[in-house]
Amino acid sequence: MKKIKLIQKSKKGIYWPSEELKKNAWINKNTIYKKAEKDPVKFWENLAAEGIIWDKKWTKTYHEKHPYFQWFIGGKLNASYNCLDRHLKDKKNKAAIIWEPESPEEKNRVLTYHDLYSEVNKLANVLKNLGVKKGEVVGIYLPMIPEGQIAMLACSRIGAIHCVVFSAFSAESLKYRLKETRTKILITADGYYRKGEILNLKAKADEAVKKTKVKKIIVVKRTGIKINWKKERDFWWHDLTEKADSYCRPKIMDSEDTLFILYTSGTTGKPKGIIHTTGGYLTQAYWTAKWDFNLHDDDVLWSTSDIGWITGHTYCCYGPLLNGATSLIYEGMFNYPQSDRWCEIIEKYGVTVFYTSPTAIRMFAKHGDNVKKFDFASLRILGSVGEPIDKEAWGWFFQNVGRKRCPLIDTWWQTETGGTLINSLPGIGPFIPTMAGRSFPGTRLTIFDDDGNVLPVNKEGNLVQLSPFAPGMLRGVYKNPKKYLETYWNKFGKGIYFTSDGAWKDRQGNFRITGRLDDIIKIAGHRISTAELEDAITRHPLVAECAVIPQSHEIKGSVPIALVVLKKAKPSLKLTREIVKQAETFIGPIARPEQVFFVEDLPKTRSGKIMRRILRNILADKPVGDISTLANPESVEKIKKIVSKS
Ligand code: WTA
Repeated sequence: MKKIKLIQKSKKGIYWPSEELKKNAWINKNTIYKKAEKDPVKFWENLAAEGIIWDKKWTKTYHEKHPYFQWFIGGKLNASYNCLDRHLKDKKNKAAIIWEPESPEEKNRVLTYHDLYSEVNKLANVLKNLGVKKGEVVGIYLPMIPEGQIAMLACSRIGAIHCVVFSAFSAESLKYRLKETRTKILITADGYYRKGEILNLKAKADEAVKKTKVKKIIVVKRTGIKINWKKERDFWWHDLTEKADSYCRPKIMDSEDTLFILYTSGTTGKPKGIIHTTGGYLTQAYWTAKWDFNLHDDDVLWSTSDIGWITGHTYCCYGPLLNGATSLIYEGMFNYPQSDRWCEIIEKYGVTVFYTSPTAIRMFAKHGDNVKKFDFASLRILGSVGEPIDKEAWGWFFQNVGRKRCPLIDTWWQTETGGTLINSLPGIGPFIPTMAGRSFPGTRLTIFDDDGNVLPVNKEGNLVQLSPFAPGMLRGVYKNPKKYLETYWNKFGKGIYFTSDGAWKDRQGNFRITGRLDDIIKIAGHRISTAELEDAITRHPLVAECAVIPQSHEIKGSVPIALVVLKKAKPSLKLTREIVKQAETFIGPIARPEQVFFVEDLPKTRSGKIMRRILRNILADKPVGDISTLANPESVEKIKKIVSKS
């Protein structure tokens, strides 16, 4: 493939799109920002009309009544119709999903738009026959196999709400979600491959459904391992779909009907169900996928996120499929069976857009010697998401993967925002190492101080979004309006969404994201709350108290460190293992503490609040600062001693 020059460099290490890229880009004029800013509602209205197929047009475009808002009110549509049926005329034989198994020995799968359409229709009929009704929640607990997308789209076809749970989450995590949503049907698999080993997913699902409302489990046969089977409850996916009709009429949904719930960590011990609705979410998914990645007909988009995270929802499933693009998904670890497996995949499929996380990039860089031997000429755009990207990772990715010819787009967004909200657009730029770019056209992100005043350029503060809110934003927290109000809308009041991130802005409006301001840790890009982890650890019968503190890590960005006060017990290696196990049991292996310190006491204020700032400083080997307000100042020196010994 011909190597096209895609970018040019100006002084100060800033990059801009080349003339060739500008010519080929959907958006190449800076004026779009100003135009959209004049009337964001009109701007999104035009995009919704152009990008999405509606069965009935809306009667009102936007309505806001603090803390709620709605888009395209009265509009009717179906998500799976928009992802599938609309492409059947001219993209029937185009690859919709390419699936690469973990083992290079195993055959890959390519589903054309027609194949995907037919699989989705069959499963939709299966769900209907099992009694799933519009508005009911269906649980999806699947590894990275195309059945994930098929299941999501089948739910949306019949108006059911999907709730996908990351397959590496524990049985307890799954149970919590199934219980809260009163899910009756769960879709899972027998198992999956991780570093050559088979993990038994069904065993976790079996454990999770105990004492829930789940009456039926649909099981994908991925590995053929022996699993427990309950005759009246468990059904093989292939048995059910084989007998199902190949057409299911799409259920016409209201724009504001819920499309999915995705649980994410909050600042309390329990995860919260983020609600996304149909019309607004699809509009943002369609246009952000198209513009951020400059998606054209010959693109192969590899978004490396798992389907269990929002990036998997929007950029492995809805975004690319709405655009009729090809979405590549990979089952396994990037570095299995050898460290350059991910390079092989890019080369094998001629990936054009590679969207990944800083943690993955740092891991690639660590074993990066072989990268040079691969032909990456197909790549056009690199993307990063999930954590702030440091200069080294940016530089390495840009140089060694993009070969200094591809724009690197750093995209900031959240489970709550549904689609990207801050990034440079490829045809406009600039691409500045570590800067995430501008507020997406038609959205208003800015920086506030703690009193709600807009901060001038270069001043760090709270990243907030101003009304009118982007159409793909959350519409609520499942069964918890109080939490919705408190988490996002109370800090600054009416018309201001608080992101919980810190950031600053340069003169041109480019944001630098500095990280979470609350107790959420991004462990290898995965969102985990310290409170959730503390809750898991204190369930151990011998633990009296614990504090989980993030510590920076050269690959994973940050990792959790647990400081544990024991009841009547002596510290031991066995107890350390048990505490680590608590995290695995109640959340999943991603939440495992990197280190466990047994301490006598935690530093507390006189009102009993743990002073995390002090613990953070001790772990970072920084001065602890003022300890005069502590009820137990002597605890500080003792903890220092224990930490310094390790
Ligand atoms: C962080 C992931 C810096 C941020 C899509 C946010 C980022 C949280 C970036 C949401 C980025 C995401 N630069 N930080 N480009 N993208 N974040 O819900 O702290 O898993 O609030 O959504 O990730 O994580 P979530």
